[in-house]
Amino acid sequence: MKSKTEASITIDVPMTRENPDTLRNIVKTGLLASPRTLPSKLFYDERGSTLFEQICELPEYYQTRTEHQLLLTWADEIVALSGAEELVELGSGAATKTRVLLDAMARADQLRYFVPFDVDETIVRRVSEELVQEYPGIQIHGVAGDFLVHLEHIPEGGRRLVVILGGTIGNLPTKAAEEFLTSVNTEMSSGDFFLLGVQLITDPSRLEAAYNDQQGITAKFNKNILRVLRNQLGAQCDAANFDHVARYNPADHRIEMWLRSTQDQTIDIPDLDISVPLKKDEEIRTELSTKYDRPMAEDILNTSGFELVKWYTDPDQLISLALARKP
Ligand code: AVJ
Repeated sequence: MKSKTEASITIDVPMTRENPDTLRNIVKTGLLASPRTLPSKLFYDERGSTLFEQICELPEYYQTRTEHQLLLTWADEIVALSGAEELVELGSGAATKTRVLLDAMARADQLRYFVPFDVDETIVRRVSEELVQEYPGIQIHGVAGDFLVHLEHIPEGGRRLVVILGGTIGNLPTKAAEEFLTSVNTEMSSGDFFLLGVQLITDPSRLEAAYNDQQGITAKFNKNILRVLRNQLGAQCDAANFDHVARYNPADHRIEMWLRSTQDQTIDIPDLDISVPLKKDEEIRTELSTKYDRPMAEDILNTSGFELVKWYTDPDQLISLALARKP
């Protein structure tokens, strides 16, 4: 008799157990620093996740569809090479591209566990409920947390394939990315595989266009951080008093998104005991999106304890999937 595990969902929400002072301190320190910054994870409440989904469909935002295409081409090989029965996705969002990997695992009869890990609890729940319907027998263990803090909430499982797609790693400066990947590596067992989606350095005008779309969705996404700041920390600020700015910084090979104050104004956050004076044209940095070339990507993978197994890229060299292994 063949025993078949029943499909199941569990959701772990370490995010709600996070000390509220942690976020308060990050915001306070960032807003008082020079340049002023806000943490990118604040983009992703329910509305922010939805706006990001819309960004992924934009004609200018080539990243998502290019990576999707690479996955369609290589998922079967990646799944075969990894032998994985558990897929862990850090920054899983709506998990649209993830389904390509899950399909390949199901075809290979290797699909047992899926661990969607995202900072937005609403999307972790939604995705878990959808996928448990779509993949018979799958066991889903969602984690709503900050992957810089809550990595140890990834459950033990079988042979794992850990993935970070979409260029999410680019949100971190190179050094921090290296440290983060080292802690990912530490969570993994010898022989587990790691798939890293990286955005490649390319023509700056093409990069800038991807973050300055005609429809203004990226601007809405950028300004959503102010709404989250209001909702979560009671900040007194008005998105109408800011312009969206996105530009390429060639020295650090990254796109930077900023909110530029259209007038002299003050952001008051009584809860944090701060009052942030902004001059007209003063900017707050809300996001980094670091681009890599192959040597840089190999370097951070090696430094964080992985060995590169395969380097997949599209004909225009815009996106790469680096398949690596923990020796
Ligand atoms: C989710 C960080 C990969 O940097 O391209 C898209 C976020 N911001 N448009 C990126 C983003 C504005 C995206 N990442």
